Order: sequence, then structure tokens, then C-alpha cells
Amino acid sequence: MKTVGVVFGGKSPEHKISIISAESIVANIDRDVYTPVLFPMDREGHLFRGDGGFEFLKIGKKESISPASFDELKKMDVVFPALHGPFGEDGTIQGLLEIMGVPYVGCGVESSALNMHKGLFRDVFAAKGISQPQYRYFPMVDRDASLNEIRDTMPLPLFVKPCRGGSSIGISRVEAMGKLQDAVETAFQFDDCVIVEEGIDITEELEVAVMGRPGQLKVAGPGQLIAGDAFYNYDDKYVNNRTHFQIPAEDLPLEIFTKIRNLAAVAFGITNCFGLARVDFLYNRNTGYLVLNEINTMPGFTDISMYPKLMMTTGMSFSGLVSALLELAFQRGR
Ligand SMILES: Nc1ncnc2c1ncn2[C@@H]1O[C@H](COP(=O)(O)OP(=O)(O)O)[C@@H](O)[C@H]1O
Ligand SMILES: [Mg+2]
Repeated sequence: MKTVGVVFGGKSPEHKISIISAESIVANIDRDVYTPVLFPMDREGHLFRGDGGFEFLKIGKKESISPASFDELKKMDVVFPALHGPFGEDGTIQGLLEIMGVPYVGCGVESSALNMHKGLFRDVFAAKGISQPQYRYFPMVDRDASLNEIRDTMPLPLFVKPCRGGSSIGISRVEAMGKLQDAVETAFQFDDCVIVEEGIDITEELEVAVMGRPGQLKVAGPGQLIAGDAFYNYDDKYVNNRTHFQIPAEDLPLEIFTKIRNLAAVAFGITNCFGLARVDFLYNRNTGYLVLNEINTMPGFTDISMYPKLMMTTGMSFSGLVSALLELAFQRGR
């Protein structure tokens, strides 16, 4: 039997989603091969350990958990960092695990950090000739100069985002320049770097699941999501249940279907992903405009999340997927 340390919760605004992802992962770990060990992390970044990990983070119940040191992760055969967003999906915990020499699921340090940063990955993709919306990102010190330039040069509507966020937290769609400043202030509440992007008139949001290692990739999808609101915001994602998934996406021209899958695999390679990633696209079927919106290196992993659902279209079960990801963790660097 191998021990799998599942780390979840954490300092990210996506704390709650991480708990649900971890519950699905733990429920689907193959107990004939692996023994899960729960490592809940509270919102201050304190690590705990114990079977009561889910109740602890959800309702504050302190039975069956005890404070843990990060050293305890070292005793695990493999770690599944089921963390989304900053302090989890961004290379930080990956770096810690690298130092300790513990195998872990998913992308490595630089890939996680790069894909977390909506400005830096756009620079990389632009340099590689992959279509991007117009964008500009800036730290607080450059805010006023950047805003002036954006007002003069970028077309409405605009999307304003914290550079390193997730789950649409802190993101606004701006339809009048008079609202830009407020949107930027909101985004600065979540990060010290903000990105402003050209808003794309989209008819479809398409997402591709990629699993594996360079040269041995499994690609699933695209799936389509149909947002209930003006854009795919936090409430849509997790609260009001108004978003629909179509898995796989129907009625897409075969050419686009193939193009998106290929682009997803290329993007996975360019940013040095390993293990898993979900690659998201914005598409307008009337104009044919297609842009790669982002890569999520630890995509939502709940029972109803796009990534596992897409992978299941390839004939895998949820637990088969978890096992495959754990197996990949042992292959890193080989
Ligand atoms: N440039 C854009 N043009 C049009 N819609 C966008 C743009 N950027 C983001 N969106 C919308 O906002 C949602 C959240 O943005 P995204 O960049 O995916 O952030 P997150 O990392 O929080 O998921 C997208 O799913 C899409 O609906
Ligand atoms: Mg997104």
C-alpha cells in the first residue's frame, strides 16, 4: 500500500472549491493500492492532519485532526495537492514538495507559476504566435499611466482581472470607461498585479482536458459551457447552478474541434505542463475568432467538474483517472 497525502483548503479564495475537489478525489482513490491521508489546510495556511479533515474545514469541528508540520508530507509516498488558485496551483506547494523530494500530482513549479499569471502566460503565448486578445497588465505603481493608455487604445468592453486569481473572483466586465477605475480597484484587492483585456464577443467557451506527459498525452473534449450570466462568473460556477455543460461540445465544425484539441496539446507543451491541465478557449462561431483564454493546472475536480467529466468520455472512470494521475506523479523527471 502507498500513502497519498491529499492537501486541500488553503489560503486561496478558492478554499471551498478545493474542499469539494478533495472530497471527490479521496472518494475515488483506489483503496487496493493507496491509503489516503487527509491534510486540511486552514485559511491562514496552517496544516493539519487527520480523518476529520473535511468536517474541520467545513464546520470547524476539531475532532480527529491534529496540527501537522509540513515535514509530515515527506513521509507520504505521493502527494495530491488538491488546491486551486494562489498558494496551491501557483508553484508554491510544488516548490516545497520538490525541496522535500516527494512525488506529487500535476504540473511542476515553473509551469504552475506561469499558468497562474494571466499576464505572463499571454506574453509567452504571444511570443509563440498563439492568438491572444489585446491585453495590458500592470502593478499598482503603473496604474494611472496604464489606465490612461488603456482608455486611449483599447476597445470596450474590457475584462479586468487580478493577474493571479481563479474562479472569476475579482473579475469585472467593463462596458463604459467611467467604470474602469472601480473595476481595477476591485481586482487590486486580490492581487498586486492587474490585467485588462479586450472583451471578446464569444458564442462558445470551450474547454479541453489534457492528461499525461510530453509525448504521451491524452486529450479529451472540447466540452462547452453555457454561462447563465453575462460571463462565467463565480455565482455561475458554484452558486446558482445556471451554467450548463455540453460534453463533448456538439455542433462544432470538425475543423475547429480538431484545431482546439491540437492547440490544447501544444499549449500544454509550451508551458511545460505535466500530469494534467484544462485548457480553456473563447470562440465566436460567426466570425471564427478563437483565442486561448487560460490554462488551469489544477482544474476543478468535483464530481460535476469539466475536467473529470471530459476525461470520462475517453472511457476512464473517475477512480481510473485518479490512479492514472498518481502513477504519473512517480514518472516525473524520468
Ligand atoms: N477577454 C475576455 N473576453 C470575453 N470574456 C472573457 C474574457 N476573459 C474572461 N472572460 C469571461 O470571464 C470568465 C472568467 O475569466 P477567466 O480568465 O477564465 O478567469 P478565471 O481564472 O477566474 O476562471 C471566462 O470564463 C469568460 O466567461
Ligand atoms: Mg477560467
